[in-house]
Amino acid sequence: MSDLATLVEVGGPVAMLGGGAAYARAKHPAVYWSAVGLPVSTLRLMTSYGSVMEACGLTVAPSRLRVLAVKATTRREVRPVPPRRGVIRPTSTGLRLRLRLAPGQEPADVAASAERLRHAWGVHAVYVTTVKPGVVELRLVGYDVLRQVRMPRKLDSGFLTVPVALREDATPFLRDYRAVPHQLTLGATLSGKSMYLRHLISGLARQPVALVGIDCKRGVELAPFASRLSAFATDQEEAAELLPALVKEMEDRYDLIKARQGIAPDIPDEEITSDIWGLPESERPVPVVLFVDEVAELFLTATKKDEERRDEMVTQLIRLAQLGRAAGIYLEVCGQRFGAELGEGATMLRAQLTGRVCHRVNDEASAKMALGDIAPEAVHAACAIAPDRPGLAVAGDTSGGWSRIRTPYLSLGAAADVCRESAHMVPDLPALKRFRPDLPVRPVETPSPAVQSHPVTD
Ligand SMILES: Nc1ncnc2c1ncn2[C@@H]1O[C@H](COP(=O)(O)OP(=O)(O)OP(=O)(O)O)[C@@H](O)[C@H]1O
Ligand SMILES: [Mg+2]
Repeated sequence: MSDLATLVEVGGPVAMLGGGAAYARAKHPAVYWSAVGLPVSTLRLMTSYGSVMEACGLTVAPSRLRVLAVKATTRREVRPVPPRRGVIRPTSTGLRLRLRLAPGQEPADVAASAERLRHAWGVHAVYVTTVKPGVVELRLVGYDVLRQVRMPRKLDSGFLTVPVALREDATPFLRDYRAVPHQLTLGATLSGKSMYLRHLISGLARQPVALVGIDCKRGVELAPFASRLSAFATDQEEAAELLPALVKEMEDRYDLIKARQGIAPDIPDEEITSDIWGLPESERPVPVVLFVDEVAELFLTATKKDEERRDEMVTQLIRLAQLGRAAGIYLEVCGQRFGAELGEGATMLRAQLTGRVCHRVNDEASAKMALGDIAPEAVHAACAIAPDRPGLAVAGDTSGGWSRIRTPYLSLGAAADVCRESAHMVPDLPALKRFRPDLPVRPVETPSPAVQSHPVTD
């Protein structure tokens, strides 16, 4: 009887603890990591570092001096030397530590063992980045951070930069318009393209930037943000008028830059500029970001007459992509496919769009349109995105690499609220004034009288 009581006394709390840990792991992985995963993985790492490195082939033979020193002071066997390890730095999503590579080793050696290290230390993933020659950083991620995306609290986003998604190594993915002026975002229907745009628009809405929208799905995706848009086109006809106005604005900006270059020969060399960023702040035109949702709708034609208009629009978009950067005009193009079937000029326009993000696609050919020129593995990764994870995408890096990213959830209402609140920030751009969307006037709600009047009766 007393054995049974002891079992209940000890087993009960243990079972509760185990159940609680399993629940936290499934539902609140960040809490589980901080409470259980972090101490366990740190202990594993500290106790097994040397042997794991040796098993992964990341050790080198000891120097002769070391052999002599060990032999002289101890009777221990002389073991191969692992890379020197820095301080272990815990984070809310994992661990970081730096390794000093031994002579003859390269970062690729450590990266090749990432999978083995992840199993040895019981973490979700291990990523390797080069900090400086001879030093790599191991980034251990404790759990799948893309399941419930939470952006880091501290984000150093600057002007024309928007933290739009989270990478699988728990670092933020920034859309930096000055580093990557134009971008193409592809994905099948319901893959999360409009969510991506939503983040960009609400991120830029609070910055002194002109936002221009072309949404040939009759405006259903971008209309909620109309209060912050400087110009908005909802069908091919409107887009065919808006694009020449943007090209004209770009040409005017080039004239402005040229005038500055030719003002006077006494301008110091460092003040001669070839883009708007070199102009004095008082003269600098405001940057413009053009969002095109469902680009194929802009290009599809039914009649011969439409074809001419289409060709003109493609040429104008190509010109904006080619010359827009220096004039502070940036393109953000979204679509389900973007290939040669859209007609002449489509592939040329695609080649101008440096940044690439590919959401879930229905076939390999679509993934190749976005990522084919980056890496074949990136194409495979995009094809493997599951439909139950909207917002998950593969993003090409400026460095030629790629990473998996996912946007956090942002409701349409919240994004529209941001645009409404920042409607006063719509810059004054005379060239685009006639394209400013008409905002529906909200009916003023008259409060219902608290006391109902009744006819007076005798
Ligand atoms: N990161 C995310 N987290 C959670 N849900 C998401 C995420 N991204 C998108 N979704 C959801 O997935 C659905 C489709 O998203 P979205 O409208 O952005 O897709 P889309 O690619 O623009 O589709 P379409 O081509 O039909 O316009 C929406 O219901 C949206 O709420
Ligand atoms: Mg959409």
